[in-house]
Amino acid sequence: PHGTAHHGAGPGHGTGPDHGTGAVVVVAAALLDRGRLLAARRSAPADLAGRWELPGGKVEPGERPEDALVRELREELGVEAEPGERIPGEWPLKPGYVLRVWSARLLSGDPLPLEDHDELRWLAPGELDAVDWLDQDRPAVAEAARRLFGA
Ligand code: CDP
Repeated sequence: PHGTAHHGAGPGHGTGPDHGTGAVVVVAAALLDRGRLLAARRSAPADLAGRWELPGGKVEPGERPEDALVRELREELGVEAEPGERIPGEWPLKPGYVLRVWSARLLSGDPLPLEDHDELRWLAPGELDAVDWLDQDRPAVAEAARRLFGA
């Protein structure tokens, strides 16, 4: 059941909430800088704390997903980033929530775990298995790595 879109633009590509199912869209960033991918360790809630994720959060009503991504990276990490391509696929979270991933490029700032996280790591292409990703982020990271690193 993991990953649905494999032909480029899928439903809801690039604009607004998910029109297909009404699920809340959580956007996350495959944030790249100097050939490395940022992983963030969650500090809460208890059942997710200690697991690693691509940083992001919920798209607000009426918000474009790319704008949500930029906002979340600003709030959580204190950086400015530029969204790039959407990583094809969609990964289920808890019922009523889906995860979608965009690549993003670090424009300015040095990421800090300001909110939701207690540790950050820049991973080289060969290090992507070095952290304990959230289950739902694992296939998303694999797909992002294929697209962005050719891994
Ligand atoms: O910051 P905001 O409250 O909008 O969102 P969040 O609490 O960071 O994420 C919303 C939900 O998506 C949570 O249940 C996270 O565990 C989940 N999530 C995820 O599974 N993988 C990510 N890369 C980002 C969020």
